[in-house]
Amino acid sequence: MEIKVTSNSEQTTMEIAKKYAMSIKSPCVISLEGDLGAGKTTFAKGFALGLGINQTVTSPTFTVMNEYAGSKFPLYHFDMYRLSSCEEAINCGFEEYFDLTKLKGVVLVEWAKNVEGLLPALHVVVSFKKVDENTRQIAISVKGWIK
Ligand SMILES: Nc1ncnc2c1ncn2[C@@H]1O[C@H](COP(=O)(O)OP(=O)(O)OP(=O)(O)O)[C@@H](O)[C@H]1O
Ligand SMILES: [Mg+2]
Repeated sequence: MEIKVTSNSEQTTMEIAKKYAMSIKSPCVISLEGDLGAGKTTFAKGFALGLGINQTVTSPTFTVMNEYAGSKFPLYHFDMYRLSSCEEAINCGFEEYFDLTKLKGVVLVEWAKNVEGLLPALHVVVSFKKVDENTRQIAISVKGWIK
């Protein structure tokens, strides 16, 4: 099943993400997909608010991963833009965050396609499509739960 919503502003995208985060259970891996500037990090900012995180969420492009303490469980926000393979991510020690038997918390990952094979079979995909300057189509679906 896929849930589709249209967002007409950055604030609306954050609000959608915040509401979604309030319903999320740990452990969970969520891949944020879409072009540069599509709204992935904006979604992460709203998502963090929904987990009770008041710290400012910034893009982890240079740090690869930022960790935040939520009120119930931690949030791990990855940006794989600068990585080029699953092996590279494993060498950086990231494997455990993508193992649902070990993960405690929620993982958001931007540019997961750069580390193909790292994500658990069961994960959520939130995809963003730019319609115009302020409009984004957001689609949420679960992968891997129907064989
Ligand atoms: N409806 C909308 N939802 C989200 N962002 C929007 C929307 N309308 C305009 N924007 C703008 O689009 C940009 C989205 O930037 P953001 O950093 O979230 O993208 P990103 O997908 O994380 O890009 P990158 O791949 O570079 O990390 C921001 O400048 C934001 O203000
Ligand atoms: Mg980003």
